[in-house]
Amino acid sequence: MEKPENLILIIFGASGDLTSRKLIPAFYSLKLQGLLPEKFVITGVGRTQFSDEDFRKKMKESIKTFSKENSSDENQIETFTRSLFYIPMDNTSAEDYKKLKEKLYKIEESSGAGRNYIFYLATPPGIYKIVSENLTLAGLADQAEGFRRFIYEKPFGYDLKSGMTLNHALHEMIGEDQIYRIDHYLGKETVQNVLVTRFANGIFEPLWNRNYVHRIEITSAENIGVEERGGYYDSSGALRDMVQNHLLQMAGLTAMEPPSSLEPDAVRNEILKVFQSLQPIREPDVPTQVIRGQYTGSTIHGECVSGYREEKDVAGDSMTETYVAMKFYINNWRWGGVPFYIRTGKRMPARVTEIVIYFKRTPHHLFQRAEGVLTSNMLIIRIQPDEGILLKFDMKQPGSGFNIKNVNMDFHYTDLAEIRVPSAYERLLYDAMIGDSTLFARDDVVETAWKFVDPILNAWENNPKIKLYGYPSGTWGPTNVNSIIEGCGLDWRYPCKNLTNDGSFCEL
Ligand code: BG6
Repeated sequence: MEKPENLILIIFGASGDLTSRKLIPAFYSLKLQGLLPEKFVITGVGRTQFSDEDFRKKMKESIKTFSKENSSDENQIETFTRSLFYIPMDNTSAEDYKKLKEKLYKIEESSGAGRNYIFYLATPPGIYKIVSENLTLAGLADQAEGFRRFIYEKPFGYDLKSGMTLNHALHEMIGEDQIYRIDHYLGKETVQNVLVTRFANGIFEPLWNRNYVHRIEITSAENIGVEERGGYYDSSGALRDMVQNHLLQMAGLTAMEPPSSLEPDAVRNEILKVFQSLQPIREPDVPTQVIRGQYTGSTIHGECVSGYREEKDVAGDSMTETYVAMKFYINNWRWGGVPFYIRTGKRMPARVTEIVIYFKRTPHHLFQRAEGVLTSNMLIIRIQPDEGILLKFDMKQPGSGFNIKNVNMDFHYTDLAEIRVPSAYERLLYDAMIGDSTLFARDDVVETAWKFVDPILNAWENNPKIKLYGYPSGTWGPTNVNSIIEGCGLDWRYPCKNLTNDGSFCEL
Protein backbone atom coordinates (compact mmCIF):
# COMPACT_ATOMS: atom_id res chain seq x y z
CA MET A 1 0.00 0.00 0.00
CA GLU A 2 1.10 3.53 -0.80
CA LYS A 3 2.89 5.43 1.99
CA PRO A 4 1.39 8.88 2.60
CA GLU A 5 3.54 11.98 2.06
CA ASN A 6 5.14 13.52 5.16
CA LEU A 7 2.66 15.60 7.11
CA ILE A 8 1.55 17.11 10.39
CA LEU A 9 -1.91 16.22 11.62
CA ILE A 10 -3.52 18.70 13.96
CA ILE A 11 -6.41 17.49 16.12
CA PHE A 12 -8.78 20.09 17.53
CA GLY A 13 -10.57 18.72 20.58
CA ALA A 14 -7.56 16.56 21.40
CA SER A 15 -8.40 16.15 25.06
CA GLY A 16 -11.79 14.62 24.19
CA ASP A 17 -13.01 11.06 24.08
CA LEU A 18 -12.83 10.55 20.33
CA THR A 19 -9.11 11.28 20.27
CA SER A 20 -8.36 8.81 23.06
CA ARG A 21 -10.75 6.05 22.05
CA LYS A 22 -10.57 6.10 18.27
CA LEU A 23 -8.05 8.44 16.65
CA ILE A 24 -4.83 7.73 18.52
CA PRO A 25 -5.36 3.92 18.64
CA ALA A 26 -6.06 4.05 14.87
CA PHE A 27 -2.84 5.98 14.18
CA TYR A 28 -0.95 3.56 16.38
CA SER A 29 -2.26 0.62 14.32
CA LEU A 30 -1.27 2.39 11.12
CA LYS A 31 2.21 2.89 12.56
CA LEU A 32 2.56 -0.84 13.33
CA GLN A 33 1.59 -1.64 9.75
CA GLY A 34 4.11 0.83 8.35
CA LEU A 35 1.34 2.98 6.88
CA LEU A 36 2.24 6.30 8.45
CA PRO A 37 4.34 8.83 6.53
CA GLU A 38 8.12 8.59 6.92
CA LYS A 39 8.06 11.83 8.93
CA PHE A 40 4.82 12.25 10.79
CA VAL A 41 3.67 14.32 13.74
CA ILE A 42 0.34 14.65 15.54
CA THR A 43 -0.29 17.93 17.29
CA GLY A 44 -3.18 17.98 19.73
CA VAL A 45 -4.99 21.24 20.34
CA GLY A 46 -7.46 21.92 23.13
CA ARG A 47 -8.39 24.09 26.07
CA THR A 48 -7.01 21.66 28.67
CA GLN A 49 -3.63 22.86 29.88
CA PHE A 50 -1.56 19.81 28.94
CA SER A 51 2.17 19.86 28.26
CA ASP A 52 3.53 17.67 25.44
CA GLU A 53 4.48 15.16 28.14
CA ASP A 54 1.03 15.16 29.77
CA PHE A 55 -0.56 14.54 26.38
CA ARG A 56 1.85 11.71 25.56
CA LYS A 57 1.17 10.08 28.91
CA LYS A 58 -2.60 10.26 28.41
CA MET A 59 -2.31 8.85 24.88
CA LYS A 60 -0.08 5.99 26.06
CA GLU A 61 -2.87 5.01 28.43
CA SER A 62 -5.47 5.25 25.70
CA ILE A 63 -3.44 2.99 23.39
CA LYS A 64 -3.17 0.44 26.18
CA THR A 65 -6.89 0.64 26.87
CA PHE A 66 -8.45 1.00 23.43
CA SER A 67 -6.04 -0.30 20.82
CA LYS A 68 -6.98 -3.51 19.03
CA GLU A 69 -3.27 -4.26 18.69
CA ASN A 70 -1.08 -6.11 21.08
CA SER A 71 -0.26 -3.04 23.16
CA SER A 72 2.26 -4.57 25.52
CA ASP A 73 5.23 -3.43 23.46
CA GLU A 74 6.31 -0.43 25.53
CA ASN A 75 9.10 0.44 23.08
CA GLN A 76 6.73 0.73 20.12
CA ILE A 77 4.31 2.83 22.15
CA GLU A 78 7.14 5.03 23.37
CA THR A 79 8.48 5.62 19.84
CA PHE A 80 5.01 6.40 18.56
CA THR A 81 4.10 8.83 21.32
CA ARG A 82 7.35 10.74 20.80
CA SER A 83 5.74 12.08 17.65
CA LEU A 84 2.87 13.60 19.66
CA PHE A 85 2.77 17.27 20.70
CA TYR A 86 0.16 19.43 22.35
CA ILE A 87 -0.77 23.10 22.22
CA PRO A 88 -3.20 24.48 24.80
CA MET A 89 -5.24 27.19 23.15
CA ASP A 90 -8.66 28.69 22.76
CA ASN A 91 -10.03 27.41 19.44
CA THR A 92 -12.22 30.44 19.06
CA SER A 93 -9.53 33.09 19.60
CA ALA A 94 -7.88 34.30 16.36
CA GLU A 95 -4.82 35.43 18.37
CA ASP A 96 -4.07 31.89 19.51
CA TYR A 97 -3.74 30.70 15.92
CA LYS A 98 -0.54 32.74 15.57
CA LYS A 99 0.86 30.66 18.45
CA LEU A 100 -0.29 27.54 16.66
CA LYS A 101 1.42 28.56 13.45
CA GLU A 102 4.70 29.29 15.24
CA LYS A 103 4.59 26.00 17.09
CA LEU A 104 3.90 24.12 13.86
CA TYR A 105 6.96 25.74 12.26
CA LYS A 106 9.07 24.72 15.26
CA ILE A 107 7.78 21.16 15.15
CA GLU A 108 8.49 21.08 11.44
CA GLU A 109 12.12 22.12 12.06
CA SER A 110 12.70 19.45 14.68
CA SER A 111 10.80 16.64 12.95
CA GLY A 112 11.25 17.29 9.24
CA ALA A 113 7.53 16.55 8.78
CA GLY A 114 7.19 19.42 6.28
CA ARG A 115 4.27 21.72 5.55
CA ASN A 116 1.48 19.37 4.54
CA TYR A 117 -1.23 19.77 7.18
CA ILE A 118 -4.40 17.86 7.95
CA PHE A 119 -6.73 19.53 10.44
CA TYR A 120 -9.03 17.13 12.25
CA LEU A 121 -12.00 18.87 13.87
CA ALA A 122 -13.10 16.60 16.69
CA THR A 123 -14.82 19.56 18.37
CA PRO A 124 -18.52 20.32 18.84
CA PRO A 125 -19.85 21.09 15.33
CA GLY A 126 -20.95 24.54 16.49
CA ILE A 127 -17.35 25.76 16.18
CA TYR A 128 -16.42 24.17 12.83
CA LYS A 129 -16.91 27.48 11.09
CA ILE A 130 -14.93 29.63 13.51
CA VAL A 131 -12.02 27.18 13.68
CA SER A 132 -11.88 27.00 9.88
CA GLU A 133 -12.09 30.79 9.68
CA ASN A 134 -9.29 31.27 12.17
CA LEU A 135 -7.09 28.77 10.34
CA THR A 136 -7.76 30.62 7.09
CA LEU A 137 -7.04 34.03 8.64
CA ALA A 138 -3.76 32.75 10.05
CA GLY A 139 -2.79 31.63 6.53
CA LEU A 140 -2.89 27.98 7.61
CA ALA A 141 -5.41 26.96 4.94
CA ASP A 142 -3.26 28.27 2.11
CA GLN A 143 -1.93 25.44 -0.04
CA ALA A 144 1.08 27.30 -1.51
CA GLU A 145 3.58 25.39 0.66
CA GLY A 146 1.81 22.03 1.02
CA PHE A 147 -1.62 20.47 1.00
CA ARG A 148 -4.21 21.50 3.58
CA ARG A 149 -7.06 19.08 4.31
CA PHE A 150 -9.89 19.46 6.78
CA ILE A 151 -11.62 16.49 8.37
CA TYR A 152 -14.99 17.23 9.99
CA GLU A 153 -16.59 14.83 12.40
CA LYS A 154 -20.29 14.11 12.24
CA PRO A 155 -22.87 15.64 12.74
CA PHE A 156 -22.44 17.96 9.81
CA GLY A 157 -25.27 20.41 10.47
CA TYR A 158 -28.40 20.09 12.52
CA ASP A 159 -30.90 20.19 9.67
CA LEU A 160 -30.95 21.12 5.99
CA LYS A 161 -30.61 24.84 6.59
CA SER A 162 -27.66 24.61 8.99
CA GLY A 163 -25.96 21.93 6.84
CA MET A 164 -26.22 24.18 3.79
CA THR A 165 -25.08 27.25 5.71
CA LEU A 166 -22.03 25.38 6.98
CA ASN A 167 -21.15 24.06 3.53
CA HIS A 168 -21.53 27.54 2.10
CA ALA A 169 -19.34 29.11 4.80
CA LEU A 170 -16.61 26.49 4.33
CA HIS A 171 -16.64 26.86 0.56
CA GLU A 172 -15.92 30.58 0.96
CA MET A 173 -12.62 29.59 2.57
CA ILE A 174 -11.62 26.18 1.27
CA GLY A 175 -12.33 23.97 -1.71
CA GLU A 176 -14.63 20.93 -1.55
CA ASP A 177 -11.61 18.81 -2.52
CA GLN A 178 -9.97 19.84 0.78
CA ILE A 179 -12.98 18.77 2.86
CA TYR A 180 -13.36 15.26 4.33
CA ARG A 181 -16.68 14.72 6.14
CA ILE A 182 -16.50 11.63 8.30
CA ASP A 183 -19.24 9.05 8.36
CA HIS A 184 -17.39 6.28 10.15
CA TYR A 185 -19.80 3.62 8.85
CA LEU A 186 -18.29 4.10 5.39
CA GLY A 187 -14.94 3.14 6.90
CA LYS A 188 -16.25 -0.22 8.10
CA GLU A 189 -14.88 -3.14 6.08
CA THR A 190 -18.26 -4.83 5.95
CA VAL A 191 -20.00 -1.69 4.68
CA GLN A 192 -17.48 -1.48 1.83
CA ASN A 193 -18.04 -5.17 1.26
CA VAL A 194 -21.60 -4.33 0.17
CA LEU A 195 -20.02 -2.90 -2.99
CA VAL A 196 -17.88 -5.97 -3.50
CA THR A 197 -20.74 -8.40 -2.89
CA ARG A 198 -22.86 -6.59 -5.41
CA PHE A 199 -20.36 -5.65 -8.08
CA ALA A 200 -17.73 -8.39 -7.98
CA ASN A 201 -20.27 -11.23 -8.28
CA GLY A 202 -22.39 -11.81 -11.33
CA ILE A 203 -25.04 -13.85 -9.55
CA PHE A 204 -26.63 -11.08 -7.49
CA GLU A 205 -27.09 -8.31 -10.05
CA PRO A 206 -29.92 -9.96 -12.05
CA LEU A 207 -31.93 -10.37 -8.82
CA TRP A 208 -31.08 -6.99 -7.27
CA ASN A 209 -34.17 -5.07 -8.29
CA ARG A 210 -37.93 -4.68 -7.94
CA ASN A 211 -38.62 -7.82 -10.01
CA TYR A 212 -37.11 -10.13 -7.40
CA VAL A 213 -36.69 -8.13 -4.21
CA HIS A 214 -39.71 -7.91 -1.97
CA ARG A 215 -38.33 -5.52 0.62
CA ILE A 216 -35.10 -4.37 2.19
CA GLU A 217 -34.53 -3.95 5.89
CA ILE A 218 -31.62 -2.21 7.57
CA THR A 219 -31.16 -2.46 11.32
CA SER A 220 -28.59 -0.76 13.46
CA ALA A 221 -29.26 -1.65 17.07
CA GLU A 222 -27.16 -0.74 20.07
CA ASN A 223 -27.40 -2.18 23.54
CA ILE A 224 -25.82 0.83 25.22
CA GLY A 225 -27.77 3.91 26.26
CA VAL A 226 -26.56 7.48 25.77
CA GLU A 227 -23.87 7.05 28.43
CA GLU A 228 -21.98 10.32 29.00
CA ARG A 229 -23.33 11.99 25.85
CA GLY A 230 -26.76 13.03 27.15
CA GLY A 231 -26.05 16.73 26.54
CA TYR A 232 -25.30 16.22 22.86
CA TYR A 233 -27.85 13.48 22.30
CA ASP A 234 -30.81 15.26 23.81
CA SER A 235 -30.61 17.96 21.15
CA SER A 236 -29.93 15.41 18.44
CA GLY A 237 -31.91 12.18 18.73
CA ALA A 238 -31.65 8.99 16.70
CA LEU A 239 -32.87 10.51 13.43
CA ARG A 240 -30.02 13.02 13.29
CA ASP A 241 -27.48 10.84 15.06
CA MET A 242 -27.87 7.63 13.04
CA VAL A 243 -30.46 7.83 10.26
CA GLN A 244 -29.41 10.99 8.38
CA ASN A 245 -25.92 9.59 7.97
CA HIS A 246 -25.06 5.97 8.77
CA LEU A 247 -28.36 4.30 7.85
CA LEU A 248 -28.98 6.33 4.71
CA GLN A 249 -25.41 5.71 3.55
CA MET A 250 -25.94 1.97 3.98
CA ALA A 251 -29.21 2.25 2.04
CA GLY A 252 -27.33 4.22 -0.64
CA LEU A 253 -24.69 1.51 -1.08
CA THR A 254 -27.35 -1.20 -1.17
CA ALA A 255 -29.49 0.60 -3.74
CA MET A 256 -26.96 2.39 -5.97
CA GLU A 257 -26.19 1.61 -9.59
CA PRO A 258 -22.73 0.22 -10.38
CA PRO A 259 -20.28 3.14 -10.49
CA SER A 260 -18.19 3.50 -13.64
CA SER A 261 -15.00 3.34 -11.54
CA LEU A 262 -13.88 3.56 -7.94
CA GLU A 263 -12.94 7.22 -8.32
CA PRO A 264 -14.34 9.23 -5.39
CA ASP A 265 -16.83 11.13 -7.51
CA ALA A 266 -17.97 8.11 -9.48
CA VAL A 267 -19.03 6.33 -6.27
CA ARG A 268 -20.48 9.41 -4.61
CA ASN A 269 -22.44 10.40 -7.73
CA GLU A 270 -24.27 7.08 -7.58
CA ILE A 271 -25.08 7.49 -3.88
CA LEU A 272 -26.31 10.99 -4.60
CA LYS A 273 -28.63 9.69 -7.33
CA VAL A 274 -30.18 7.28 -4.82
CA PHE A 275 -30.72 10.07 -2.31
CA GLN A 276 -32.22 12.27 -5.01
CA SER A 277 -34.66 9.48 -5.84
CA LEU A 278 -35.88 9.06 -2.27
CA GLN A 279 -39.61 9.59 -2.25
CA PRO A 280 -40.12 12.50 0.14
CA ILE A 281 -42.05 11.66 3.28
CA ARG A 282 -44.55 14.48 3.54
CA GLU A 283 -45.26 15.90 6.98
CA PRO A 284 -48.82 14.44 7.12
CA ASP A 285 -47.45 10.97 6.29
CA VAL A 286 -44.92 10.97 9.11
CA PRO A 287 -47.21 9.28 11.69
CA THR A 288 -47.85 6.32 9.37
CA GLN A 289 -44.35 5.95 7.94
CA VAL A 290 -42.13 6.78 10.88
CA ILE A 291 -42.28 5.47 14.44
CA ARG A 292 -40.27 7.11 17.17
CA GLY A 293 -39.55 5.70 20.60
CA GLN A 294 -37.64 6.43 23.78
CA TYR A 295 -36.24 3.86 26.19
CA THR A 296 -37.68 3.58 29.64
CA GLY A 297 -36.23 2.05 32.79
CA SER A 298 -36.24 -1.70 33.18
CA THR A 299 -34.35 -4.60 34.66
CA ILE A 300 -31.79 -6.35 32.47
CA HIS A 301 -30.08 -9.46 33.84
CA GLY A 302 -31.32 -8.55 37.30
CA GLU A 303 -29.83 -5.06 37.09
CA CYS A 304 -31.93 -1.92 37.17
CA VAL A 305 -31.33 0.21 34.11
CA SER A 306 -32.50 3.80 34.09
CA GLY A 307 -34.76 5.29 31.46
CA TYR A 308 -33.59 7.91 28.99
CA ARG A 309 -35.21 10.76 30.92
CA GLU A 310 -33.19 9.80 34.01
CA GLU A 311 -29.88 9.94 32.15
CA LYS A 312 -27.30 12.63 32.96
CA ASP A 313 -27.81 15.93 31.06
CA VAL A 314 -31.17 14.83 29.66
CA ALA A 315 -34.33 16.86 30.31
CA GLY A 316 -36.82 15.14 32.62
CA ASP A 317 -39.60 15.68 30.06
CA SER A 318 -37.45 15.10 27.00
CA MET A 319 -39.26 14.21 23.77
CA THR A 320 -36.02 13.16 22.05
CA GLU A 321 -36.25 9.85 20.23
CA THR A 322 -33.74 7.12 21.04
CA TYR A 323 -35.39 4.83 18.49
CA VAL A 324 -36.61 5.34 14.94
CA ALA A 325 -38.17 2.91 12.50
CA MET A 326 -39.32 4.06 9.11
CA LYS A 327 -40.50 2.98 5.70
CA PHE A 328 -39.50 4.74 2.53
CA TYR A 329 -39.33 4.21 -1.22
CA ILE A 330 -36.75 4.93 -3.85
CA ASN A 331 -38.43 6.20 -6.97
CA ASN A 332 -36.34 4.84 -9.79
CA TRP A 333 -36.51 1.97 -12.29
CA ARG A 334 -34.58 -0.42 -10.10
CA TRP A 335 -36.49 0.10 -6.87
CA GLY A 336 -39.90 1.60 -7.70
CA GLY A 337 -42.49 0.08 -5.31
CA VAL A 338 -39.98 -1.82 -3.10
CA PRO A 339 -40.30 -0.72 0.53
CA PHE A 340 -37.11 -0.01 2.45
CA TYR A 341 -37.44 -0.38 6.21
CA ILE A 342 -34.81 0.99 8.52
CA ARG A 343 -34.64 1.01 12.29
CA THR A 344 -32.13 2.06 14.86
CA GLY A 345 -32.24 2.41 18.58
CA LYS A 346 -30.32 2.56 21.80
CA ARG A 347 -30.73 0.10 24.67
CA MET A 348 -31.97 -2.68 22.46
CA PRO A 349 -31.26 -6.35 23.21
CA ALA A 350 -28.03 -6.56 21.19
CA ARG A 351 -25.45 -4.49 19.34
CA VAL A 352 -26.06 -5.53 15.79
CA THR A 353 -26.06 -3.88 12.37
CA GLU A 354 -27.23 -5.69 9.27
CA ILE A 355 -28.86 -5.32 5.88
CA VAL A 356 -31.50 -7.88 4.93
CA ILE A 357 -32.62 -8.41 1.34
CA TYR A 358 -35.94 -10.26 1.30
CA PHE A 359 -36.56 -11.89 -2.07
CA LYS A 360 -40.05 -12.44 -3.44
CA ARG A 361 -41.67 -15.78 -2.76
CA THR A 362 -42.24 -18.34 -5.47
CA PRO A 363 -45.52 -17.73 -7.28
CA HIS A 364 -46.90 -21.17 -6.48
CA HIS A 365 -46.35 -23.07 -3.23
CA LEU A 366 -45.89 -26.74 -4.04
CA PHE A 367 -44.46 -27.96 -0.76
CA GLN A 368 -45.33 -28.29 2.90
CA ARG A 369 -43.17 -26.34 5.30
CA ALA A 370 -41.86 -28.05 8.39
CA GLU A 371 -42.27 -24.81 10.36
CA GLY A 372 -45.73 -24.32 8.91
CA VAL A 373 -44.96 -20.72 7.90
CA LEU A 374 -44.10 -19.33 4.52
CA THR A 375 -40.61 -17.93 4.42
CA SER A 376 -38.80 -16.09 1.69
CA ASN A 377 -35.20 -16.28 0.61
CA MET A 378 -33.12 -13.76 2.48
CA LEU A 379 -29.63 -12.47 1.99
CA ILE A 380 -28.28 -10.99 5.19
CA ILE A 381 -25.24 -8.78 5.07
CA ARG A 382 -23.95 -8.57 8.61
CA ILE A 383 -22.06 -5.35 9.28
CA GLN A 384 -21.31 -6.11 12.94
CA PRO A 385 -20.69 -8.20 15.04
CA ASP A 386 -19.95 -11.69 13.68
CA GLU A 387 -19.35 -9.96 10.35
CA GLY A 388 -20.34 -12.04 7.37
CA ILE A 389 -23.03 -13.00 4.90
CA LEU A 390 -25.92 -15.40 5.33
CA LEU A 391 -28.20 -16.77 2.65
CA LYS A 392 -31.42 -18.39 3.82
CA PHE A 393 -33.22 -20.76 1.51
CA ASP A 394 -35.43 -23.85 1.49
CA MET A 395 -34.27 -27.48 1.30
CA LYS A 396 -36.05 -30.79 1.42
CA GLN A 397 -36.19 -32.46 4.82
CA PRO A 398 -34.88 -36.02 4.48
CA GLY A 399 -37.68 -38.59 4.57
CA SER A 400 -40.94 -39.32 2.85
CA GLY A 401 -42.98 -36.62 1.15
CA PHE A 402 -41.79 -33.13 0.38
CA ASN A 403 -41.39 -31.38 3.67
CA ILE A 404 -39.08 -28.44 3.39
CA LYS A 405 -37.07 -26.49 5.84
CA ASN A 406 -35.43 -23.07 5.76
CA VAL A 407 -31.65 -23.51 6.04
CA ASN A 408 -28.56 -21.31 6.20
CA MET A 409 -25.51 -20.89 4.03
CA ASP A 410 -23.09 -18.60 5.78
CA PHE A 411 -19.69 -16.98 5.49
CA HIS A 412 -18.04 -15.35 8.50
CA TYR A 413 -15.15 -12.90 8.25
CA THR A 414 -13.47 -14.82 11.05
CA ASP A 415 -13.01 -17.65 8.52
CA LEU A 416 -10.34 -15.43 6.99
CA ALA A 417 -8.42 -15.77 10.23
CA GLU A 418 -5.11 -14.66 8.78
CA ILE A 419 -6.55 -11.36 7.63
CA ARG A 420 -6.74 -8.52 10.06
CA VAL A 421 -9.87 -6.35 9.84
CA PRO A 422 -8.87 -2.69 10.25
CA SER A 423 -11.03 -0.35 12.30
CA ALA A 424 -13.20 2.18 10.46
CA TYR A 425 -11.10 5.09 11.69
CA GLU A 426 -7.87 3.43 10.59
CA ARG A 427 -9.19 3.14 7.06
CA LEU A 428 -10.59 6.67 6.93
CA LEU A 429 -7.52 8.34 8.43
CA TYR A 430 -5.26 6.51 6.01
CA ASP A 431 -7.49 7.52 3.09
CA ALA A 432 -7.45 11.17 4.16
CA MET A 433 -3.65 11.04 4.37
CA ILE A 434 -3.34 9.74 0.82
CA GLY A 435 -6.01 12.17 -0.39
CA ASP A 436 -8.70 9.63 -1.26
CA SER A 437 -12.13 11.02 -0.43
CA THR A 438 -14.24 8.14 -1.80
CA LEU A 439 -15.41 7.08 1.66
CA PHE A 440 -16.17 10.60 2.88
CA ALA A 441 -19.52 12.32 2.46
CA ARG A 442 -19.64 14.99 -0.23
CA ASP A 443 -21.47 18.33 0.29
CA ASP A 444 -24.41 17.56 -2.02
CA VAL A 445 -24.83 14.06 -0.58
CA VAL A 446 -25.04 15.41 2.98
CA GLU A 447 -27.50 18.12 1.96
CA THR A 448 -29.73 15.70 0.06
CA ALA A 449 -29.83 13.43 3.10
CA TRP A 450 -30.87 16.39 5.25
CA LYS A 451 -33.52 17.30 2.69
CA PHE A 452 -35.03 13.85 3.15
CA VAL A 453 -35.11 13.89 6.97
CA ASP A 454 -36.10 17.55 7.37
CA PRO A 455 -39.89 17.04 6.94
CA ILE A 456 -39.77 14.33 9.64
CA LEU A 457 -37.95 16.64 12.04
CA ASN A 458 -40.44 19.41 11.21
CA ALA A 459 -43.45 17.16 11.69
CA TRP A 460 -42.24 16.08 15.12
CA GLU A 461 -41.55 19.64 16.10
CA ASN A 462 -44.76 21.13 14.74
CA ASN A 463 -47.14 18.41 15.74
CA PRO A 464 -46.88 17.36 19.38
CA LYS A 465 -49.73 14.89 18.79
CA ILE A 466 -47.36 12.57 16.92
CA LYS A 467 -46.68 9.87 19.47
CA LEU A 468 -43.37 9.14 21.07
CA TYR A 469 -43.62 5.54 22.29
CA GLY A 470 -41.81 4.27 25.35
CA TYR A 471 -40.05 0.93 25.11
CA PRO A 472 -38.45 -0.87 28.03
CA SER A 473 -34.65 -0.92 27.87
CA GLY A 474 -33.44 -4.24 26.54
CA THR A 475 -36.33 -4.72 24.09
CA TRP A 476 -36.66 -4.33 20.33
CA GLY A 477 -38.48 -1.01 20.50
CA PRO A 478 -42.13 0.06 20.50
CA THR A 479 -44.56 -2.82 20.07
CA ASN A 480 -46.53 -1.14 17.27
CA VAL A 481 -43.51 -0.96 14.98
CA ASN A 482 -44.94 -3.62 12.69
CA SER A 483 -47.72 -1.24 11.73
CA ILE A 484 -45.44 0.32 9.11
CA ILE A 485 -44.67 -3.01 7.42
CA GLU A 486 -46.79 -3.63 4.37
CA GLY A 487 -48.25 -7.10 4.01
CA CYS A 488 -50.04 -9.44 6.31
CA GLY A 489 -48.07 -11.24 9.00
CA LEU A 490 -44.71 -9.82 7.97
CA ASP A 491 -42.25 -9.00 10.66
CA TRP A 492 -38.74 -7.66 11.11
CA ARG A 493 -35.84 -10.04 11.49
CA TYR A 494 -34.77 -10.15 15.13
CA PRO A 495 -31.04 -10.72 14.79
CA CYS A 496 -28.84 -12.19 17.48
CA LYS A 497 -25.18 -11.59 18.24
CA ASN A 498 -24.47 -14.66 16.19
CA LEU A 499 -25.23 -14.17 12.48
CA THR A 500 -26.94 -17.51 11.95
CA ASN A 501 -29.42 -17.14 14.82
CA ASP A 502 -32.45 -14.97 15.06
CA GLY A 503 -35.61 -14.63 17.10
CA SER A 504 -36.78 -12.17 19.73
CA PHE A 505 -35.04 -14.07 22.52
CA CYS A 506 -31.29 -14.26 22.03
CA GLU A 507 -28.31 -14.38 24.25
CA LEU A 508 -27.58 -10.76 25.21
C1 BG6 B 1 -22.08 7.42 16.21
C2 BG6 B 1 -23.26 7.90 17.00
O1 BG6 B 1 -21.97 8.13 15.00
O2 BG6 B 1 -22.24 6.04 15.95
C3 BG6 B 1 -23.40 7.12 18.29
O3 BG6 B 1 -23.09 9.28 17.31
C4 BG6 B 1 -23.44 5.64 18.02
O4 BG6 B 1 -24.56 7.51 19.02
C5 BG6 B 1 -22.29 5.23 17.11
O5 BG6 B 1 -23.34 4.97 19.27
C6 BG6 B 1 -22.43 3.79 16.67
O6 BG6 B 1 -21.27 3.40 16.01
P1 BG6 B 1 -20.81 1.89 15.98
O7 BG6 B 1 -19.59 1.89 15.13
O8 BG6 B 1 -20.53 1.50 17.42
O9 BG6 B 1 -21.93 1.12 15.40
